[in-house]
Amino acid sequence: MSSDIKHVAIIMDGNGRWANQRLHPRVWGHVRGSGVVSDIVQAADDNGIKALTLYAFSTENWARPQDEVGVLFKLLHKFLLKESKRLIANKVSFKVIGDVTRLPQATKNLINDLENETKSFPGLKLTFCFSYGARMEMVSAINKFISENPGKTITEDDLQSCFMRPETGDVDLLIRTGGEQRVSNFLLWQIAYAELYFTPTKWPDFTPSEFKRILESVSKRERRFGGLSASSNVNHPSIDRQLEVQSSHV
Ligand code: FPP
Repeated sequence: MSSDIKHVAIIMDGNGRWANQRLHPRVWGHVRGSGVVSDIVQAADDNGIKALTLYAFSTENWARPQDEVGVLFKLLHKFLLKESKRLIANKVSFKVIGDVTRLPQATKNLINDLENETKSFPGLKLTFCFSYGARMEMVSAINKFISENPGKTITEDDLQSCFMRPETGDVDLLIRTGGEQRVSNFLLWQIAYAELYFTPTKWPDFTPSEFKRILESVSKRERRFGGLSASSNVNHPSIDRQLEVQSSHV
């Protein structure tokens, strides 16, 4: 199933509204949402997805109240404590991309340990984007290239290879929960030919079965990557005649 969908990226949106609708503080939504993360990681693995990239905290999210930012830090820490064993058992290769310098040292240690232990694992490539922004990733990739190759012209492949997790490659499917229809500075280069799917379901209500339905639905779409479908009739014998007629009118 969904054999051509190998890399799924998700903008996990709607936590705050989910909580507010229940008259809870916004952070409740993040707490519930972090539980959903484990379910969807498992579902991705179960459905044969090779890479799953999750937007957990954007460069713009630093503008949120400090207590909300603190809760997101704690949830990342708790996730690592709780899920590391399962990720290792499932041979998941884990990485955090983004600017993690402002995370607490204890969390950075957990990340480093898990990244090191799982880096050569053959299973699902799970990436958390934390303090991440696509423009920042592109600028730092270009700067990395310039400093390693002074005076050289950069190619698309060079740029791709300087990204924070180049081996995950292009995104095949970008899902955004929570009803908004925008890409919010997420993997802008990698989603160039991604299929987009926007669901009104808020992240804390997102389930493995909805995830599976989305994969099934999107795998029926025809992806043409700017070309034509196999069934397109490109053989129009009269086209030369039409072009002749048109140019005689110019
Ligand atoms: C967007 O919802 C969500 C985030 C900014 C954070 C996403 C984080 C999680 C799902 C939990 C973190 C878990 C781990 C394991 C790192 P929003 O707050 O913008 O929702 P709103 O649009 O309803 O306000």
